[in-house]
Amino acid sequence: MAVITNIADLKRQHKRRTPKMFYDYCESGSWTEQTFRENTSDFDQIRFRQRIAVDMTGRSTETKMIGQDVAMPVALAPVGLTGMQCADGEIKAAKAAEKFGVPFTLSTMSVCSIEEVAKHTTKPFWFQLYVMRDQEFLEGIIQRAKDANCSALVLTLDLQILGQRHKDLKNGLSVPLRPTAGNMLDLATKWRWGMGMLGTKNKSFGNIVGHARGVSNMGSLMTWTAEQFDPRLDWEKIAKIKEMWGGKLILKGIMEPEDALKAVEVGADAIVVSNHGGRQLDGALSSIKMLPAIIDAVGDQIEVHLDSGIRSGQDVLKAIAMGAKGTYIGRAFIHGLGANGEAGVTKALEVIHKEMDLTMALCGRRHIETMDRETVLVPKNFAGDWA
Ligand SMILES: Cc1cc2nc3c(=O)[nH]c(=O)nc-3n(C[C@H](O)[C@H](O)[C@H](O)COP(=O)(O)O)c2cc1C
Repeated sequence: MAVITNIADLKRQHKRRTPKMFYDYCESGSWTEQTFRENTSDFDQIRFRQRIAVDMTGRSTETKMIGQDVAMPVALAPVGLTGMQCADGEIKAAKAAEKFGVPFTLSTMSVCSIEEVAKHTTKPFWFQLYVMRDQEFLEGIIQRAKDANCSALVLTLDLQILGQRHKDLKNGLSVPLRPTAGNMLDLATKWRWGMGMLGTKNKSFGNIVGHARGVSNMGSLMTWTAEQFDPRLDWEKIAKIKEMWGGKLILKGIMEPEDALKAVEVGADAIVVSNHGGRQLDGALSSIKMLPAIIDAVGDQIEVHLDSGIRSGQDVLKAIAMGAKGTYIGRAFIHGLGANGEAGVTKALEVIHKEMDLTMALCGRRHIETMDRETVLVPKNFAGDWA
């Protein structure tokens, strides 16, 4: 087997081992994919400053996110259908995160349910919520996350209406996979994936089927989901959800200083500067470009996290140097999972950790929290001269 040294290696294996429909679901953005592309390419504009003759012994990437100890400031982002990239994907990713000492975030739209993941892990994980119209379901799922001892609620605010990805429509994305001639041909080369799926009962949306009224199979689920994402979501509702949850609250999908200030007002513990990995509003700026303005606006009033476009430990350090207190990886860990299950996710985390550690050393810093604005060079007009 080829030696894996970076996330791009895992991505190649992911593509080889996973049905095209699910690989494409991961590796795509909305419409022209401009925002999806710029999320990664904008990181390239930021450079490091090389320092020498500085003691670089005893380095550490350990820090805290929302007051919780983390081995490095990198959480696994909520990713819907993770359990379709590889059998029991959410359980495998959660286990890898737990062993590594970083947070795992379970998506509302996961294949393995909250209870399944809780059964197979020993430490609290984070739960991501989409706001649904069905109040009974909403209250129920918040309660289930509490019962499972989830230590943070990540409330996603940028998907009350679904962005369009051409590939998903063309592939006829379906869960589980539909047995068409094309899919069967594809599956013949993805035997490892197929064997895994044969061995698990987790093949649908585990948090929803059997919990939402009238949803018992895929057909009714699709109808329910299309109707359920609540387009009337507003700050009042967000405040109500905060009250219902009562624990640590992270608001995800903030791309404007004004919205960041509203998040402060509502009393959230953290925000995630995120454009959903370029899957929602195509044409939005990358999240790394929006980060400085948001940090300027909120100062120390709220913890600021960032995702979208992180593919290396260097990207994580750039975000931290620009002022983020934590980051999330989506595709970077999914590539690991699709490549090699739990071991693949561990590999992705190891790769990122090593890249962070070496880069810190070469920047003459020994601790992650000292990676500040002095450690990077940023073009004068980085965010652009937009009006
Ligand atoms: C395949 C896929 C599915 C996703 N599903 C969800 C989801 O269910 N809930 C959510 O809040 N974000 C979801 N996201 C967005 C991620 O949480 C995260 O914001 C994004 O992946 C970060 O960008 P990156 O993939 O470039 O790291 C998804 C992303 C991908 C790639």
